[in-house]
Amino acid sequence: MIKAESIIKEFGDPPQRILHNISMEINKGEFVSISGRSGSGKSTLLYIISSLDEPTFGHIYIDGKNVTHMSVDEIHEFRNRHIGFIFQFHYLLPELTALENILLPPRNLGLLKKYEPRANMLLEKLNIPHTRNKLPGQLSGGEQQRVAIARALIMEPSYIFADEPTGNLDTANAEIVMNILKETNKEKGTTIALVTHDPDYAAMADREIFLVDGHVSETYTGD
Ligand SMILES: Nc1ncnc2c1ncn2[C@@H]1O[C@H](COP(=O)(O)OP(=O)(O)OP(=O)(O)O)[C@@H](O)[C@H]1O
Ligand SMILES: [Mg+2]
Repeated sequence: MIKAESIIKEFGDPPQRILHNISMEINKGEFVSISGRSGSGKSTLLYIISSLDEPTFGHIYIDGKNVTHMSVDEIHEFRNRHIGFIFQFHYLLPELTALENILLPPRNLGLLKKYEPRANMLLEKLNIPHTRNKLPGQLSGGEQQRVAIARALIMEPSYIFADEPTGNLDTANAEIVMNILKETNKEKGTTIALVTHDPDYAAMADREIFLVDGHVSETYTGD
């Protein structure tokens, strides 16, 4: 479970407040979407609840552990093993092939061989088997995005944080990605926080959170 307690985020000097006292919980196995217009603070919130950035004030607890109290080693190990990130602007390593990028998390844990079949399965599933031995610079934006998605899924993480994962994709491939996320949530009980501006994809979540100018304006639970 993720618990955000009175999260305030400020940037700059003089400080400009971007997130205003946000408290929320994401339960184990829950699929939550976060929507709101450009600049409302969606990415900032996702970075904070996923432990990649620190709040200016407030606390984040992941599985009961206060993230700010974890050591650097502890948090790296935790991220590699339990968290899959899909960023709005994907961060593939340019000198590694698609397959090598996907296999980075298991490689860091010394589990490369064990996960190679799964990496190939994900390449097939995401419609990008032809990218296997190519470098990111030789791929289209949408192909790179799907390589980043495969990398996020490779370890079967307990948590997936996804920032506009369908942003660069045509409808057919966006639907493939959304279906994989939904299926992973249903079948493996993966907890998912998805930032999206697409109302149909937001509605695929168990709960929809809307941000307006750094405030949670409403949450909507389907059914
Ligand atoms: N590192 C930073 N330094 C200063 N301001 C920042 C920083 N990161 C974000 N901001 C500001 O915080 C606000 C929220 O940004 P954020 O990226 O969270 O928006 P968003 O809702 O994800 O928008 P989009 O839909 O365009 O991705 C914006 O006004 C942005 O300029
Ligand atoms: Mg954003």
